Amino acid sequence: MTKLEGMRACVFDAYGTLFDVHGPLRKLGPEIGPKAEEISRLWRQKQLEYTWLRSLMGVHADFWHVTGDALDYALEAHGVTETGLRDELMTLYLKLEAYPEVKEALQAVKAKSQRTAILSNGSPSMLDTAVRSAGLDRLFDMVLSVEDVGIYKPSRRVYRHAMQKLQIHDVASVCFVSANSWDAQAAAQFGFQAVRVDRFGLKDDRIPGKPRVVIKDLSELAGLI
Ligand code: LAC
Repeated sequence: MTKLEGMRACVFDAYGTLFDVHGPLRKLGPEIGPKAEEISRLWRQKQLEYTWLRSLMGVHADFWHVTGDALDYALEAHGVTETGLRDELMTLYLKLEAYPEVKEALQAVKAKSQRTAILSNGSPSMLDTAVRSAGLDRLFDMVLSVEDVGIYKPSRRVYRHAMQKLQIHDVASVCFVSANSWDAQAAAQFGFQAVRVDRFGLKDDRIPGKPRVVIKDLSELAGLI
């Protein structure tokens, strides 16, 4: 079994890794009907695309704004026009549920004397609300947002920001955990020991950077450290 030696901190992606981004449309699925799953998928896809596009364009807007734009696109693409529904989905996005194993897995990582941090595209207020409502606030030493950097992942500036905040100089002593393959791979390319969480049986993306380990969910993480 792979062991990650000499880790000084575990840094987690948030959306898709700790929090289930498809919860809101699952919850309102009965109101929306069979299109709900496809709307959720398109919402997430556009949300990520808009972060990458804005980063390349040099026109930053925070993740709450981008998430709203992406939802508007997805709803319009599927001919959903009720504005009440839009607001309801956005409100649910603030309080996403954590995946079932997350709390215990974080406790196990902390029991290994690791410092823990979130490094996410989310805006500080989104992250604060999500972490509190999922009852995870005591389990993180730091919650870091790209808003302090003004560009989205996978910019190297974002990963560097985590090192600066954690005051870690050896890049290889950071364990970076993400269920977004492009994020795990970019973090690996940056030099972190990356762990990809593969909840849905997906392949690595065809971009540079190879995670050290791929795990099924976070319950396997503490055993690696
Ligand atoms: C985040 C996105 C990538 O939390 O899900 O940063």
